[in-house]
Amino acid sequence: KMESLEVVRPELVDFKGVWMTHYFTDNWENVQNFQARPDDILIATYPKAGTTWVSYILDLLYFGQTSPERQTSMPIYLRVPFLEIAIPTIPTGKEVADELSTSPRLIKTHFPVQFVPKSFWEQNCRMIYVARNAKDNMVSYFHFDRMNSVQPVPGDWNNYFQRFLEGKNLYGSWYDHVGGWWEKTKTCSKIHYMFYEDMVEDTGREIDKLCQFLGLSAEAEEKKRVAHQAQFDSMKKNSMANYSTLPVLDFKISPFMRKGKVGDWKNHFTVAQNEEFDEDYKKKMKDPTLQFRTEI
Ligand code: A3P
Repeated sequence: KMESLEVVRPELVDFKGVWMTHYFTDNWENVQNFQARPDDILIATYPKAGTTWVSYILDLLYFGQTSPERQTSMPIYLRVPFLEIAIPTIPTGKEVADELSTSPRLIKTHFPVQFVPKSFWEQNCRMIYVARNAKDNMVSYFHFDRMNSVQPVPGDWNNYFQRFLEGKNLYGSWYDHVGGWWEKTKTCSKIHYMFYEDMVEDTGREIDKLCQFLGLSAEAEEKKRVAHQAQFDSMKKNSMANYSTLPVLDFKISPFMRKGKVGDWKNHFTVAQNEEFDEDYKKKMKDPTLQFRTEI
């Protein structure tokens, strides 16, 4: 484990209309000028929607057979660089991405769709967006903000709940994020929009869909192995997938691989909060074509 970093909990700032912190905007110019390659695959999510899970699956599908040493020596956040991250003393996501020699490169971002560097569109890159129902996403984000010292101060649960409804989280409103990317899929065939809940329900089926989208002809046996390796319990134990090697996270407060369930919100929301949430949700989520499941 690396030495702890001296980091300060950042403030949220309104950055081009989205609540951000400087750790993800300091490298803005470089990130916006990022040179994508046509075979780059961008994995985009609102934080805590299943980014690591899908990243790990893709890494296994592409490199599980050809470079097994990757699996035992390289943490997931180096295999799949986080494009916009700029935290002192560790290389920026852009630097890591620029140095990746793999083909394809798998690149992670939490940007809302309007922040995606233009090169990804120009190069016609494939993009995978993972969305998770707002209630579970909120709970997961709350625990993450508690344990991650480069996230804004979470406050208590009641406070966090209100702020989430106001959209005042790092990367802005969940509603705008999932909606913005969904809108884009209507005109851009290069985006595969998937749901965390579907992954939990049937990982194999979702891997099949991913392979189809990516034009991968993995054998059934291989896909089964990937699904198995990417199970919650296996990833939780795997130090190359569970983020235990990253210094800014405090697993004593909450582990990165926390529960991995659909419906944990029921252990957090009060009845009154649930009613308030549902009422507010109806007002914000007007597009009937975008539907989430809060239980499976
Ligand atoms: P919980 O906090 O609800 O447990 P991200 O990778 O986008 O940060 O998302 C993290 C969330 O995905 C966490 O949710 C984590 O436990 C969950 N997750 C990670 N790997 C998973 C897996 N293999 N199966 C199910 N959930 C997984």
